[in-house]
Amino acid sequence: MIELSKQKYIRQYRWSNVLAMMQGGAKELKECTDDFKGRLVVITGATSGIGYAAAREYASHGANLLLINRSEEKSIALCDEIRQEFQVECDYKIADFSRLTEVRKVGKEILYSDLDIDVLIHNAGIYSTKKIITEDGNELVFQIDYLGSFVLNYMLKDKLKAQGKARIIFVNSEGHRFAVFGIGLHDPTYEKRRHSGLGSYGVAKAAQLLSMIKFVEYFEGSGVTINAIHPGNVKTNSGSQNGRIYRWYKRNLIDRSAKDPQISATALYYLGVSKEIEGVSGKFFNLTKEEEPAPPSLDREVAEELWHKSIEMAGLE
Ligand SMILES: NC(=O)c1ccc[n+]([C@@H]2O[C@H](COP(=O)([O-])OP(=O)(O)OC[C@H]3O[C@@H](n4cnc5c(N)ncnc54)[C@H](OP(=O)(O)O)[C@@H]3O)[C@@H](O)[C@H]2O)c1
Repeated sequence: MIELSKQKYIRQYRWSNVLAMMQGGAKELKECTDDFKGRLVVITGATSGIGYAAAREYASHGANLLLINRSEEKSIALCDEIRQEFQVECDYKIADFSRLTEVRKVGKEILYSDLDIDVLIHNAGIYSTKKIITEDGNELVFQIDYLGSFVLNYMLKDKLKAQGKARIIFVNSEGHRFAVFGIGLHDPTYEKRRHSGLGSYGVAKAAQLLSMIKFVEYFEGSGVTINAIHPGNVKTNSGSQNGRIYRWYKRNLIDRSAKDPQISATALYYLGVSKEIEGVSGKFFNLTKEEEPAPPSLDREVAEELWHKSIEMAGLE
């Protein structure tokens, strides 16, 4: 017997959403060729995959970068590469999102800095087949893919609002649709329900879309916009920390049809810079094509509940 809350979502599903997802956004990828000289772009998780391609894309158009990564060594090498190749400014801050103290520390540093942010891309994320609990007591994927971005965004929201211009982009995923019956906020650490790689990934991405509902309200009329993107199925290091079976599956099945992360970078540049996106907020894009998220990611009541719970879980206020 499916409980009532689950039935609520099932009734809201529409085939058109699923079809749109299956068609993907790669065929209609829009590009922006405007330059972004001297503007400041902040990107989390820029040391590989989509974040790396996006950092290079923005730098190639003249943007200065502030990268938030977990590896100092990779950050130094990346900033050297970017400065040399594109003659832009590149700085970095270190935060391992599996430790919320580190995320809050970086949030505080940026909050009290005079950085004038034009684009903020929340990209850091992982996919984990194993259930891992962080030292903060949260499920790892929920913390890295959702709470980390929530903490930064929450801490910087007043500053961004006062600056009145930033475009915030969540690198989300079509995977949010795996949270078919919602995010299970009553059990975020999977004590009473089964944990799976797809399930926990779906929950984290759906939670991020739910947080977007509240951030949109907060930024309304301020000039700040916030949108989410599915960056395509692209070949990256995602999931490389998982076991041999997953890595075999990824190499032989997922990566076979995966595209180059340059398509994600092109889309992230379009969403961050194009005039066509000016004033657009609260939308979910499959690359550059707008799509409707799955019903559990549009639930205002849960969004409200999640907002308060996230503040508590993230040790804010
Ligand atoms: N690839 C796809 O097809 C796809 C599809 C949909 C959505 N996405 C989303 O795209 C985003 C980027 O993923 P990707 O595919 O580019 O994977 P990736 O190549 O593994 O890149 C992930 C980035 O996040 C960083 N990161 C991982 N764990 C971290 C932590 N604990 N603290 C701080 N940073 C951390 C990584 O740093 P290190 O270099 O130090 O590992 C790396 O810079 C993720 O949010 C993912 O969910 C990807």
